[in-house]
Amino acid sequence: MFDQFQEVFGGVPEGDVYRAPGRVNLIGEHTDYNGGLVLPIAIDMDTCVCMRETANDIGCVYSTSFDQLATMDLNDLDHPSNTWTDYVQGIMVEIRERGKQFRGFDLLIDSEVPVGSGLSSSAALEIAVANAFNDMFDLGLVDLQLIRLCQSAENNFVGAHTGIMDQYISYHGLAGKALLLNTKELVHEVIELELDDFQLVVIDTTVSHEHENNQYNVRRSECEQALEVINGNDFLPEQLTALSQISTEQLSFLRSVLEGRLFDRVSHVVNENQRVIGVADFLTQEKIEKVGELFYESHRSLKNLYEVSSKELDFLVDFARDYPVPGARMTGGGFGGAIINLVPEGKVEDYIQQATFAFENEFNITPKCFVVNSSDGARVKPMA
Ligand code: GLA
Repeated sequence: MFDQFQEVFGGVPEGDVYRAPGRVNLIGEHTDYNGGLVLPIAIDMDTCVCMRETANDIGCVYSTSFDQLATMDLNDLDHPSNTWTDYVQGIMVEIRERGKQFRGFDLLIDSEVPVGSGLSSSAALEIAVANAFNDMFDLGLVDLQLIRLCQSAENNFVGAHTGIMDQYISYHGLAGKALLLNTKELVHEVIELELDDFQLVVIDTTVSHEHENNQYNVRRSECEQALEVINGNDFLPEQLTALSQISTEQLSFLRSVLEGRLFDRVSHVVNENQRVIGVADFLTQEKIEKVGELFYESHRSLKNLYEVSSKELDFLVDFARDYPVPGARMTGGGFGGAIINLVPEGKVEDYIQQATFAFENEFNITPKCFVVNSSDGARVKPMA
């Protein structure tokens, strides 16, 4: 990074290299903005940044992935450009929102987290950049403050009303572990990730429908609407603050009172929460086949009840079931992106080859496949 920095900016970076990983969510999809449980791991693909302070009011940012240099006037940060620079700009806006200051800078971003694959390249970028700013400008942000700042950048500046899972795991992840995160209390339990003789294989469809009518935000507002209807009609004995508080017994009652589409959304959230508990338990007991069954169930629910899958994702999950591997499901927000698969170690190569062949045959698109391992969350390392 040192050399790259010199090449782009003609000088040396100050301080350290800040790295933050992407993530794979094992299970608990679309539960994090409903106060529910999620079970993500940080993966061994990082975004690294390094920077130096300058004596002007300009931020210069270079991304090696996009091979682009962007300059930002620090006195005029309020306008998103709908490009990758919004993540950096959003962080700066949120820092100022908190009454904290920074000066001009040169910043180099080097990421190996693929963009648009559902592996949370955006959270990795946000956490790495926020950590670098925090140190360079002595902002004094700690743990949750920093995580929340990154989430706010995404919610307010980028305009994606995402939950807190991605930033949280990119910050707190641990090698060899998954985190069972309670998104209401913002506390986590560490779960040993013993996959036995299985590998976690990600297949990225490379197709993204994410921006079609902003469906992620639509799902989120449907959940808010359901909560309002339930509370407004006193359908349940107590007022709820989040859908995840609904028990499976209460869900059966809601079937007769909630309109079909809203019921389906709520039903997914409540049952997905239970599946998270199931997967965490089965992982602890090293019952991989059982984990896999819950992966398939989760995918069915995301497809049929929450309606966030795509034909490409469904094709790959069907392929996984027919191959067969013990478990597969879409991971992340959906509407494209990637699936995760539990694949027996000795079959990884064959599986990837056959899945690629089948996918190419069906869609004329070559998917991207990776074996991922769990890794530590955000770290600072000295400049080599
Ligand atoms: C995206 C969001 C997360 C979460 C998932 C769906 O990755 O950033 O907050 O809502 O989708 O589980």
